[in-house]
Amino acid sequence: MPVLYRALQGFSDILPEEQPYWRFFENVASHVAELYGYQRIETPTLEETAVYLRTAGAGTDIVEKEMYTFEDRADKEGNRTSLTLRPEGTAGVVRAYLEHGLFKLPQPVKLYYMSTPIFRHDKPQAGRYREHHQFGCEALGDSDPAVDAEMISLLYQVYTELGLRDIHLQINSIGDQNCRPQYIERLREYYRPLLNECCDDCQMRFEKNPLRLLDCKEPQDQAKIAAAPKIVDFLCGPCREHFDALQHYLTLYEVPCTLNPLLVRGLDYYTRTVFEFAAGEDKLALGGGGRYDGLAEILGGNPTPGIGFGAGVERIIRAMKRQGITPPPPEKPCAFVVYLARTPELKDEVVKLVAQLRHAGIKTEMSYGDRSAKAQMKQANASGATYAVLVGANELANGFVSVRTLQGTIDEEHKQVEVKPENLIAYLTGG
Ligand code: HAM
Repeated sequence: MPVLYRALQGFSDILPEEQPYWRFFENVASHVAELYGYQRIETPTLEETAVYLRTAGAGTDIVEKEMYTFEDRADKEGNRTSLTLRPEGTAGVVRAYLEHGLFKLPQPVKLYYMSTPIFRHDKPQAGRYREHHQFGCEALGDSDPAVDAEMISLLYQVYTELGLRDIHLQINSIGDQNCRPQYIERLREYYRPLLNECCDDCQMRFEKNPLRLLDCKEPQDQAKIAAAPKIVDFLCGPCREHFDALQHYLTLYEVPCTLNPLLVRGLDYYTRTVFEFAAGEDKLALGGGGRYDGLAEILGGNPTPGIGFGAGVERIIRAMKRQGITPPPPEKPCAFVVYLARTPELKDEVVKLVAQLRHAGIKTEMSYGDRSAKAQMKQANASGATYAVLVGANELANGFVSVRTLQGTIDEEHKQVEVKPENLIAYLTGG
């Protein structure tokens, strides 16, 4: 059949065959998040554009090139609001924290979001999509580096409980409003005489977002990056102390990490701790985050420390597949009900029986339409059901149905017994 419409480029259907991976991931991640005391939050897919413009940062790729932004329909006064599809999860959570007064609760408030859709007009390629989904955590209201270590350990535990191997963690501190300006000044001084050799993007970064100079991927700029001054050498006393304490707590959590003084992140709101996880040789991050102690103020709140991460679900599932990790298979039906004659009266009895079994919590299937008993048996076998329940008009009139064991030990398989309908649930559940 010719396909008339396809999903948009960079957008994907998540088909039933993929769902066991998603369910496995979601079960493990929510279990670990709750183990660490995090509670679920979900925020709307659309926010006012200003929420992201002011927080992610005007000079970032996300804001400059990747946001899906449009004007809303006009309100009664004819005004239109600029709206944006969520390009990242943190700003919306901080907006919700302020809007709902969560700062009045005991702090820190520890929140997670699960498989939340994120939209970025990125160049689609393997592992990079225009719609992806994130598992994320945010802890608001406490600046203790033990919260940073807990956050990183939580994500590490998710990866290890999924069975992922060869996980690398890189950490860095990018200072705060006290020490970063001096460093940026120093970085600009270093880059100024080299600028005409730099790529076009770096020329722009030099003006708008100098820290991102360190994140350039162009081969021509790598030697300059390697020789650039390092922010860790410019940290003020409190930032240094915070970073040292973080590393100490990470050793207590037994999370191995590498210090990467060039690690900067793609969003402007970060302060102090930044981190990123990857698996094996793959360069694409499996998750990343950091501290954002100034973000709540940008959104009109009181100064509120915060830290969080986002982890891409598609990338994690991709890494699981590469490492041959298979999720638990979906549960097979317990019973498949087969009708031996194709009369409306018998079909009514079968639908009634299927309904009773499902209401009793027994996973049950039947076939539909006008299939022969033989074709239904074929379906029953293909479904992987443990039992076929064979319903015939004469048998029912005599007060029984036949139950054939399809899956079981060699002795049990093909065993067929007559069971009274009122005893069927007990028989199927081994009672
Ligand atoms: P991010 O590093 O931009 O951070 O994204 C987090 C993760 O989402 C990445 O490490 C990656 O696994 C996944 N990801 C990002 N872009 C794509 C894409 N185009 N296709 C597939 N997966 C992708 C943030 O979004 C921050 N909000 C994280 C955070 C939370 N920081 C503090 N709290």
